[in-house]
Amino acid sequence: MHLYRFKLWPVFLAGYGIGFLLAFIFFAAQDFFNGVSTCQKSKLNLYSASRSDLFKWFISDVWITEETVFQSWKESANTTYSEWLTNRKLKIRDIDVDKYLYGPKIKEELESTWLKLHIHVTCVVFVKNIKLARSIQDTWGKHCNKIYFFGQVKDSKVPIINFDIKLVSSWQMLCEVFNYIWRSNEVLEWLIFVKDDTLVILENLRYMLGPLNYTQDHYLGHAVILWGQPYNIADAGYVISVGVLRKLIKMFDNSEKCMTSGKYWKQEDYYLAKHLASIGIYPSDTRDQYLRGTFHGYPLQSLLWGVVKTGVYWTRALYPIKNECCSFMSVTFNVGESEKMYTLNYLLYHFHVLNKKAIFGSKNAVTSISDEDVWKVALKEEFNITNLNTISSEMYYEIWHSKYSEPGQLIGKNYRIND
Ligand SMILES: *[C@@H]1O[C@H](CO)[C@@H](O)[C@H](O)[C@H]1NC(C)=O
Ligand SMILES: *[C@@H]1O[C@H](CO)[C@@H](O)[C@H](O)[C@H]1NC(C)=O
Ligand SMILES: *[C@@H]1O[C@H](CO)[C@@H](O)[C@H](O)[C@H]1NC(C)=O
Repeated sequence: MHLYRFKLWPVFLAGYGIGFLLAFIFFAAQDFFNGVSTCQKSKLNLYSASRSDLFKWFISDVWITEETVFQSWKESANTTYSEWLTNRKLKIRDIDVDKYLYGPKIKEELESTWLKLHIHVTCVVFVKNIKLARSIQDTWGKHCNKIYFFGQVKDSKVPIINFDIKLVSSWQMLCEVFNYIWRSNEVLEWLIFVKDDTLVILENLRYMLGPLNYTQDHYLGHAVILWGQPYNIADAGYVISVGVLRKLIKMFDNSEKCMTSGKYWKQEDYYLAKHLASIGIYPSDTRDQYLRGTFHGYPLQSLLWGVVKTGVYWTRALYPIKNECCSFMSVTFNVGESEKMYTLNYLLYHFHVLNKKAIFGSKNAVTSISDEDVWKVALKEEFNITNLNTISSEMYYEIWHSKYSEPGQLIGKNYRIND
């Protein structure tokens, strides 16, 4: 018995070994195939999830009625836009779009008009492409309280400011811009800095800035962390308060300091953050309550229908964007062509869809004759018949027929009258 077992032992071991190996291979193979399929499945799921997420935001009216609350308000102001308005004894009321468009000449004051009067935004555009600069001047540039164009090109229509000094870095240029604006003796509260391929929605920016105090330190945009330094990326545009500008001017109040405090081109956004960090100023969280972004260094189209999110813009975001594109109160988008700038401007500011609470469009026109009396007037005017009570439908038909045997005659007659 013992011997027998002993003899079988190696066979058992070999069998066990082979079995184990096969099992392992099958397991691994299954895992491999499963791996592929679950990977594909989850990818598909993810894809459809984000699509349905997108549609949730875009086809539902529910979200539009929610007040947008920005994360940056929590940090500094601890108030919302509506609370801020209430504190100023102001109340928002829906307006009748019909009346606003077609009603009496005396218009109600729009929220955006009031905001423009009370929240002063200075826009700074860095120009490379004159066509884009012109389209900005014709479109969203008008919504700024003051706009400056800076660049190394010249144009007959856009007043592009060009420094006479030799510039060694883009930070030096930005620093000179700070000084130029500081010395210009204009009202200064908020400043937004953008490249010429950017669309800014000033109304939404003012909404975001309303509850914030411009004398305090605010530095807003789309923040990423690179080389350990969080900074607001220039592609998405960034905003500083005059409180921040004042401190920057204290540090860099002449050309010498501007020149020596930065290197390279296309790094000015990074240097700005670095210098601000040295005095304890960091980028704010500009996402809304659903963690959707507001400053976008990408075109809306790409954000909506897919953009490869492998760049540092996404992977190193200081405040990662959730719930896909985009906050309904977004502030900037990338727009690479001037035609697109005009098109978006048209859709945003000129295009009307009268689908809500329309009154004028669904009301009868005011006329002196009621529908029932039209035939009486016609008989009197056409045939000088005034004893109307005696006329039956048949007689009415005969009267008309006696004069006009064919409909074409009536048309012909009216055309002649019109001639
Ligand atoms: C923010 O406001 C809430 C009430 O509105 C209050 O409870 C809270 O303490 C405030 N937080 C800060 C940091 O001021
Ligand atoms: C803004 O902040 C300053 C201090 O930085 C303060 O004196 C001023 O009252 C604040 N303004 C408002 C409207 O809260
Ligand atoms: C209309 O009819 C009245 C009588 O019913 C007559 O006095 C008048 O002259 C007529 N007018 C015309 C324009 O034919």
